[in-house]
Amino acid sequence: MERPNINVELPGMRLKNPVIAASGTFGFGTEYDGIYPAHLFGAIILKGTTLKPRDGNPPPRIYETPSGLINSVGLQNPGIESVYDEYLPKLQNLRESGTKVILNIAGDTVDEYEAIASICEERGMIDGIEVNLSCPNVKKGGVNFGSNPDIASKVVASVRRKTTLPVIVKLAPVVTDIGKIALSCQEAGADAISAINTLPAVVIDIDKQKLFLGGGSGGLSGSAIKPFALMQVMNIVKRVSIPVIGCGGIMNSRDAIEFIMVGARAVQIGTGLFVSLKTVENVINGLVEYLSSVRKDNISQIEGIIFNNGARSF
Ligand SMILES: Cc1cc2nc3c(=O)[nH]c(=O)nc-3n(C[C@H](O)[C@H](O)[C@H](O)COP(=O)(O)O)c2cc1C
Repeated sequence: MERPNINVELPGMRLKNPVIAASGTFGFGTEYDGIYPAHLFGAIILKGTTLKPRDGNPPPRIYETPSGLINSVGLQNPGIESVYDEYLPKLQNLRESGTKVILNIAGDTVDEYEAIASICEERGMIDGIEVNLSCPNVKKGGVNFGSNPDIASKVVASVRRKTTLPVIVKLAPVVTDIGKIALSCQEAGADAISAINTLPAVVIDIDKQKLFLGGGSGGLSGSAIKPFALMQVMNIVKRVSIPVIGCGGIMNSRDAIEFIMVGARAVQIGTGLFVSLKTVENVINGLVEYLSSVRKDNISQIEGIIFNNGARSF
């Protein structure tokens, strides 16, 4: 049997494989130079970028749990113009090698998202935009945009108006009906949905008798969130017709296959990249091996397979 085909089609971009670096865990794509070959990924999503530079939260910003990570980075970034001036020119070779580059954007207001989208449209150099509706670290915006279908659709519609680039919308995970929010984003012009972002979390320092993280609260990622992420991806897949990108606790190929089986077209890996420099290779190789072992010649043949095999609505 020939090597199974693991190319996947997202709106406006064909990925050479379905493995994507999750925003905030692969910097602006250049920090891992000489350490981690970025060209292995089907796509990389750059760190959350805002209109103006942000300093982020005070330290400590990271806490390891028995099965995950809590971060409170707080969207530290140099602002959209610096990302264009300093980082994106260095990523054009990577794009030529076939790895797509997607910019993750965040804002405090609808106008801010819109302004960033206009700059992206004008300056190009990227293959798509991921709109973060769900950062739990920042006091304004973030979770509010993603927790309400009307506000979410306002953000998406305003980004859509300003750009012809593919628009992926990254949803807030802790909401009453994530499928409804995903559907309103699709109706507002989203090309794809990604889910999930981190779950809100706190850490207590019992010696100092106060909250541990400098920003107060943070976002939980890693293995601990995978079962919840799978359920939310299912809830989205059942409601939308656009592709869904699954994310949350993917550490190995089995985890990635689970997301594809609940209907994800592609997967993002974040915390898993911090665990081993081999994670991406392992996931890609494991995926190919699995497809061969079940005699499937194309990854699309297992996408959403649990729905063919009796899965029903919750
Ligand atoms: C240190 C760190 C920084 C992150 N920064 C962002 C960000 O800027 N924008 C965003 O949309 N998600 C951000 N995330 C969330 C990840 O992209 C991902 O959705 C989440 O970590 C769940 O995936 P994982 O369990 O594979 O890490 C960040 C996660 C971590 C661990």
